Amino acid sequence: WSCGATERERTLAMIKPDGLSGNYTEKIKEAILESGFDIIKETVVRLDTERASLFYAEHSGRSFFNSLVKYMTSGPVLVMVLERPDAISKWRALIGPTDARKAKTSHPNSIRAMCGLDSEKNCVHGSDSRESAAREISFFFGDPGSERVEHDEL
Ligand code: PPS
Repeated sequence: WSCGATERERTLAMIKPDGLSGNYTEKIKEAILESGFDIIKETVVRLDTERASLFYAEHSGRSFFNSLVKYMTSGPVLVMVLERPDAISKWRALIGPTDARKAKTSHPNSIRAMCGLDSEKNCVHGSDSRESAAREISFFFGDPGSERVEHDEL
């Protein structure tokens, strides 16, 4: 017996520069809320080269890395913490495959099919594991423990 099915989980979602400049934010948020996620936190940030490189550090050896960093610093992004049971895999399913061209044929109802172009300009990001979610949430919103420490010290 397990109560895992109802255990809430958090993931990091991001609307990338083209999603934001293409005015897809409201449509994406509607899809998020209709799919049973709560938006726990959100902020708009402009990444610089150093921060974008750090965020995508695991891909630093890939041929597309410089291009990806350039794209991700080309305009502001909207980052959100989403919560629901099984949030990490549910959000990945909702956004669809990395390559938005494939999304348009194989996952026509996905977010990337709606607003992505290719593997780089793919409109949205989602954490791919519990470890990534924890790292990425603290990357943008700080260590969840730190609020409590400050509070306890008051
Ligand atoms: S892979 O090949 O499975 O590691 O790629 P994937 O994990 O799906 O993608 C990792 C992130 O790299 C971006 N990406 C690219 N950017 C530019 N050009 C090309 N060709 C390319 N291929 C993948 C992709 O958008 C992923 O970004 P996030 O933000 O994690 O979705």
